[in-house]
Formats: sequence, structure tokens, C-alpha cells
Amino acid sequence: MPDASPQTIYLKDYKPFGWIIDDVHLTFRLHPTATRVISRIRFRPDHDVHDRPFFLHGEDLKTISIRVDGHEPTIYEQSGGITVDVPDAPFNWEAEVEINPSANTALEGLYMSNGMYCTQCEAEGFRKITWYPDRPDVMAKFTVRIESDAEHTPVMLSNGNGLYYEQDSTKTPAPNVTIYQDPWPKPAYLFALVAGDLVAHEDSFTTVSGKEVHLAIWVRPGDEHKCAFGMEALKKSMKWDEDVYGREYDLDEFNIVAVDDFNMGAMENKGLNIFNSSCVLASPETSTDANFERIEAIIAHEYFHNWTGNRITCRDWFQLCLKEGLTVFRDQQFTDDMRSAPVARISNVLALRARQFPEDQGPLSHPVRPESFQEINNFYTATVYEKGSEVIGMLKTLVGDEAYAKALNLYFDRHDGDAATIEDWLKVFEDATGRDLSQFKRWYSQSGTPRVTVREEYAQDTLTLHISQRTAPTPGQETKEPQIIPIAVGLLNPNGDEVQETTVLELRDSEQSFSFPGHASRPVPSILRGFSAPVLLDQEIDADRRAFLLAHDTDPFNRWESGRMLARESLLSSVKEGSAPNAAYLDGLKLVLRDDTLDPAYRALMLGQPSQSELAGLLHDAGHVPAPEAIHAASEALRQAKADHLSDILPGLYADHQVEEPFSAEAGPAGQRALANAALDLLTRLDGGATAAMQYTRADNMTQQLAALGALLDADQGQEALTAFYDQWRDDRLVIDKWFSLQVLHAKPGDAADVARRLTNHMDFDWKNPNRFRALLGALQMHHAGFHHESGAAYELLADWLIRLDPVNPQTTARMSTAFQTWKRYDTKRQALIGAQLDRISKQPELSRDTTEMITRIRG
Ligand code: ARG
Ligand code: ZN
Repeated sequence: MPDASPQTIYLKDYKPFGWIIDDVHLTFRLHPTATRVISRIRFRPDHDVHDRPFFLHGEDLKTISIRVDGHEPTIYEQSGGITVDVPDAPFNWEAEVEINPSANTALEGLYMSNGMYCTQCEAEGFRKITWYPDRPDVMAKFTVRIESDAEHTPVMLSNGNGLYYEQDSTKTPAPNVTIYQDPWPKPAYLFALVAGDLVAHEDSFTTVSGKEVHLAIWVRPGDEHKCAFGMEALKKSMKWDEDVYGREYDLDEFNIVAVDDFNMGAMENKGLNIFNSSCVLASPETSTDANFERIEAIIAHEYFHNWTGNRITCRDWFQLCLKEGLTVFRDQQFTDDMRSAPVARISNVLALRARQFPEDQGPLSHPVRPESFQEINNFYTATVYEKGSEVIGMLKTLVGDEAYAKALNLYFDRHDGDAATIEDWLKVFEDATGRDLSQFKRWYSQSGTPRVTVREEYAQDTLTLHISQRTAPTPGQETKEPQIIPIAVGLLNPNGDEVQETTVLELRDSEQSFSFPGHASRPVPSILRGFSAPVLLDQEIDADRRAFLLAHDTDPFNRWESGRMLARESLLSSVKEGSAPNAAYLDGLKLVLRDDTLDPAYRALMLGQPSQSELAGLLHDAGHVPAPEAIHAASEALRQAKADHLSDILPGLYADHQVEEPFSAEAGPAGQRALANAALDLLTRLDGGATAAMQYTRADNMTQQLAALGALLDADQGQEALTAFYDQWRDDRLVIDKWFSLQVLHAKPGDAADVARRLTNHMDFDWKNPNRFRALLGALQMHHAGFHHESGAAYELLADWLIRLDPVNPQTTARMSTAFQTWKRYDTKRQALIGAQLDRISKQPELSRDTTEMITRIRG
């Protein structure tokens, strides 16, 4: 049934299903183009619900038969599903449908990836597998029988515990049969099935109560050597969730499968997590330190969903942040514990500013809990995930660690087995702490980034902070109410000693004053320590004060932030006034880099500078029209100034942070490599690539090989290495993704679109693979000056490919269209160029619902 014109779904219209499912039995007769799915489901009326039409979702299903208590019922076809005449009493549902996994290029439902069957059902993919109430508030116990010809699919997996394995000799050829039973009720979006020629990296974990869990990471033959790191991350995650949240695993087995064709990062299906291979496969030779860190976090994230998402799920998709915000928060806590907490915090804030802030301040702005959508896949956003996590962090800051732990225990006790809401979540905190959270709830309903302005006053031994907040209007929300904003503040005396340790101010009103008496000399405040709230901070302070905080702040986040602010101000004034790089910044940076007591990973972050797109956003914010070429020039000039100013210490920094020991992906050696590579980037500006060439030749790990290659490309010395790199790695798809990205990222602004276009003709540009598509076209949008080059060539190239991908894979197309979300920042000429591409995309006949919604919102 083709979808009619896109429908908008509203949170306020939520209605329960009206039927309860006792159990679900599914049989899959696998076939690449004609898989049969037989479902037997016991339904009974939910007498708490009065109006209960029996509506089942279904999409692209070829119905073979439908029986209700053994009889053919009357069926009414509707958009997106069917309504069926059923008795107002318990009954047995039986249906057989045929689906075509090979034709499923959208990678939603049951599809094929390199000859292997796999599924992705979140958010609404199960309806492409069989007729079902495909909504998260319908939870049921599933038994799954998989039959296939043994030759191509020796391994078959589903959720829960594998029961047994039998040869059915009554059929010719004898099919291979596997049965899985999941004892835990779950919504259909957590269903998973995998079948194919896979090999396992196995291990086991003994839970706190002594239960042994069999663990396996399943991969295609040839990838076995890339599983060890993921397995260790899994065991650490299992242990951490027991230690920190008291959460034990609840099945006899836990399986992870690596899949090459996957729209997102990974999926937490009960007992059978499915991962984009880029988010689980790792080896020192093929993965960078950043890859290792990300893999560890994603393995933890999906594992943690077992409690926050699976045991307690969401009532409806508007509540997505209930599981995602919380699970991101938990995986960030895990990373803090496994690695360096300050470094992790800075990295999270960098990601938030790079992805969530532009979203929240542009046409796609939406609340952490949205109130309407057309396509739910368009709301798996940085706002729901990352801002959702920040909101939980603020809640924890406001109630304190102990009360947070108490509330979480209450949450698990009270809601285990539920499909819950944000109201349930907040009620748990109110009951555990006695606090009224009605104002706090605005963090879930109001979109936009609050702007906090601080003014200082010092008189009679008292420092007073006058703090105000304001949130600009966002689409659909003209007026904003004040939010409760936890602002962590510390005070330093002029010698740099801390005279007031971190204390949390609660800003509730649009304007409030906070006094710190008893300071005979004027103290220097350090505000928004640890980035205690996801806000924009306006503070009129001069470069000397920033340099003082860069040298002395006892809060590692704010110390880094002071350097960042200096870099930012230096860049903005060089774009606006053509001024030279700020000396206070360069001197302060040098002091920090020389300080051997500071973690190398932290110093590596200090060497970074605001991205060009961040600068464009800041300029726009301050009422200027950002000129991408001027921003590019200023950024390059600052890098060169850093290289020159640090020239006496760079060789030492580089040499002193070479790791002699055998490769380990742990934080310590990774931090050393990060600092050495940050130094290499600047050194290359001084030595024309000599050090990079040496590093490239000697590198025995991808972190160093890739950094060297990037540096060589910057020095225009990289062509030979680029060819060698391709020859070395042509058979490794994940490394070849890097090869595609790197060439675009390191192209000159005027060449980026051409380089990308040329690469689209490369025989390895397998554009239907989302990783490959993103590697190339995602890199183009990340190259700010290249993407926004005045020719408009990059806009056109991206639009060409979005148009081509949309009929094949709407989800990835819609996601990639966000490259245009900032278009209103730029000059009228660029706006016209982008506007023309947006028009061209939206005029495509049969544009998907996903992309239609995104382009409509982006156009505003
Ligand atoms: N729940 C998954 C995760 O965050 C994301 C899956 C989203 N998939 C999608 N097609 N919308 O771990
Ligand atoms: Zn998640």
C-alpha cells in the first residue's frame, strides 16, 4: 500500500492499543527474494480501553493468508495497515506473508547485507516483516523458529536464548532449523534475526549472582581478528552496570553481530545487538584511537539499553529521549570511568557544540521530547540523544549523586516491564527527593539553546553575579519561559588559588543575582564549570582574565574553555577586522603545553581550535554574514601562528610522546599519540612534511598512519602515499572509507567538490552502502570552506546524490540533507544557490516521506 500524503503524528493524540498479547510465535522460512513469515499470536481485549479497533501495521507485505480463530476475517485496508473484524474476546491470530529481503535497500525490516540476512526494526521496521501492532507500548514474549537451507546460512540467531537445533528430515532438502525464545516481554522494535555464514569470537561473563552468560561477536569470515577489543568492552560494560547501577544481565547468551550495511551506529535488540561493522570491528592496524574509543562507548551504550530501553521501554516514540538520553548519559559516565573524565567531558561538549547547537539554533530545532513528527526516523537527533543526556546530567547536578542513585533504583523497581513516559521518569525523581520538577520539565518541552549572560559587581568585600537567561524563538515556539539552569561556579583569588570551591547556583528566573561575601580582594569567578548546562554563555571578560583562567583555573573543563575562548575571540577578530592572532592566547597555550604534569590527551585538546562552521555560527549569531573563505583564511593563519610561536617546543612535544611499548588502545598511550599527532600537524607547517613522511613509513598502527597521511596531504606531499595506502588497504572496507574521507577533507576549498565528484566515479564508490556514502559526501559537508565554496558546486553535487539515494534509502538521505540546515546563515548568493538545490530535491516525484519532511523543515 503506497503511503498517502505525509501525515503528522501528535503526542497529544496518544491512545493505547486496546489489546494485550500473551505470546508471539514466528516462523521464518528464509529465502533471499521470497521469505515466508508465519505468525501465531494470542490476543485478548484490554478492558481498560473502551475504544479498541483492531488495527495492525504492515508495509510491503504480500499476504498469503490471514486467519482469526481459524477463519478468514473481514479486512479493511488502511494507510499503513489493516483493520480487522475480530471477536471482542481472546482469539488466535495466524498470518502468513511473503517478503523480499533482497529488494530491501532501505535497510529497515529484514534485508540482506553481503549475502547475510539481518534486521533493523527500530523505529517502525517490524511492520515490514509481518502484520503487527508495531508500537513500543505493545510488549510480548517472542518465540522464533528460523528455517533455511543450511548451506548459505549455517548460523541463525534471534532474541533471547537459543533452544535447540534440529534437522527436519521430512523436508527435502533438509532445512536447518533454529529456535530462539525470549522470556522477556518486548516491543517489536527490539526484534532481531540474523542468518548467514558467520564466525564467532566467543567468551563468557559471570554475573554478580553467579550466572554464566555466553558471549559472542559474530562476523564475516576474515574479520575474526577484529573482535577482541569489542569483547573486552562488552565485559567491562557488563561489570560496570552491575557495579554502578546494580543492573545484572538477564539471559543465558548475549550476541553481537557486525553488519556492513547499516543506517545508524548500532541497535540494542534484546540479547542480539546488531552493529554497523564500523562501530564494532577494530584492530590496531586498521582502526584509529578515536575509532577504539567510539567502539567502546557504543558497545557500552547498546549493552546499557538492556535496562534503559529494553526492560523499561518507551510508551511511544515521542518518549525516545527516555531511553536514548539516559543511555547516552550512562555510556558517558562509563567512558569517564574507563578513561579520563575531563578529556571525555571536553570531547562531549565539542560534539554537542558541533552537532546539537546548530540543530537547536536553526530550522530543525525541536524539543528533547518532540510533540509531533511525520517520520520518526528523522528524530534520532543530537537533541534527543546528546541534549537528552545533558538534561539528565543537570538533573543529577541539581538533586545530587545520592538522590540520583535513589531515584534510579526507584525507576528500575517501579517501571521494570513498563513502556514509560518522561512524566514517569520525573515523578520518580520527585518521589525520591521531594522536589517539584515542574519547571525542570521545560528542558523537555522547550527547544532552543538558552543564552546566559553574566555581569559582575564587586563592592564591600562582596562579589555579586547578576545572571540572566533568554532563549530565542524557535520554529513553532515564539515565546520561552525561564528554565532552571544549574550554573557551577568557583572563585579564584588574584594569585590563582581557589577561594571558593565549586558551588551550584540555581538560576530559575529570567534574572537573578548571587552574592559571594567575605572577599577582601576581588576574586575571579570561573563560571559554568564542567559545562554544567547546555547553554551559550555571554561573559564580558578581557583577554588577560581569560589568560589568567587558562593558567590557573582548577576546573579542567573551564581551563580548557578559557583557551578555547581566547582562540575563538582571536579568530573572530581576525575575520572581522583582519587582526593578527592574539598573543595572550599563544603565550598561554605555550605554558599549558610545556606543563608535563598535564595529561597529554588534555594538552592535545588544548591545541585544537574552533571549527570553521562553529565560527560561521558565532558570526551569524553576532549579526554578521559569515564569509567561508575569510573564516578559512583566519583559521589557517591561526594554525600557522601557533606553529611559528611553538616552533621551539614542537619537536620536543613530538619526540617525547612517541609510544615505545606495543600498541594498546587505552587512554594513556592514545593520549600520547593524540598529542604527538597534534604536534605533527603544526610541525608539518614548519618542515614541509619531512616528519610526516618519516612517520608514514614507520607507522604500525592506523592512528599514526592516517595522521601522517593527512599531514602529507596538507603539505601537498601526499599523492604517492595516498596510492600506497589504497594498495595496502583495498580489501578492507572500513579503511577504504577513511581513504575516501581523507582526500575530501584535505582538499583545497576550491577543489573539494571536484575531488569528491571524481571519487564518486571510483570503482569502490559503492554508494548504496551507507558507510561509503557518508565517507565521501559526509566529508564534503564537513569541509566548511569546500562545501560553501562560492561556485555552489558542492551544493549541487550533494543534491545530485541525495536525489539518487532517496528512492534507495530514504533514511540515510534524510539524515544527510541536514548539511543544508545552516543555509540561512550565509549571504544571499549562497542562499540562492542552496535554495535552488532544496527546490530541486523537493520537486522530485515520489520523494520519500523522510526527505520531504526534512527539506520542508529546512526550508522553513
Ligand atoms: N536505538 C539505537 C541506538 O541508539 C538507534 C537505532 C535507530 N535506528 C533508526 N533507524 N532510527 O542505539
Ligand atoms: Zn541508543
